[in-house]
Amino acid sequence: MKSLLILFSYHHKNTEKIASVFAKVLDAQIKIPQQINIEEFQEYSLIGFGSGIYGGKHHKLLLDLADTLPQATNRKAFIFSTSAMTGKSKVAKDHSLLREKLQSKGYMIVDEFSCKGFNTNSFMKYFGGMNKGRPNAEDLKNAEEFAQNLKQNLQKK
Ligand SMILES: Cc1cc2nc3c(=O)[nH]c(=O)nc-3n(C[C@H](O)[C@H](O)[C@H](O)COP(=O)(O)O)c2cc1C
Repeated sequence: MKSLLILFSYHHKNTEKIASVFAKVLDAQIKIPQQINIEEFQEYSLIGFGSGIYGGKHHKLLLDLADTLPQATNRKAFIFSTSAMTGKSKVAKDHSLLREKLQSKGYMIVDEFSCKGFNTNSFMKYFGGMNKGRPNAEDLKNAEEFAQNLKQNLQKK
């Protein structure tokens, strides 16, 4: 199972910490959207798309990349993010734009991961930021379990 991670993480590299754990478990390369060559996409049986959440959605570079993808058949993908605020329905909404774009291109979203990330956006910087130290050791452990499950489930099929 050849896997690729497409990541954009700029605020505090929070999402990069999660992607590094996924990369280790899945033996995947991490690339930024600007490094993607659409032709080489065919080589991968699993692609993870992730960034921080900015203004209620994934980073524009990731969303724009999804727009440029050629139509695929039953290609497997997963979505991940870090954000200031989490919660099942909030994350589902934050992921919805990227999810819809990928699904419209024929990607099957096999799972989604999110956790809190350190945030000093806007006025938060005056208060030392929120979610200091996140992702923390527990978040990284959850990320590892998520990737292990993903690997096991995909190998079964
Ligand atoms: C410009 C900007 C906008 C943000 N908007 C949101 C948001 O809408 N919802 C949220 O929960 N967090 C928001 N955040 C917090 C980030 O999602 C969070 O800090 C994330 O972990 C950053 O990931 P990164 O370090 O990988 O870039 C925002 C942060 C920035 C800098």
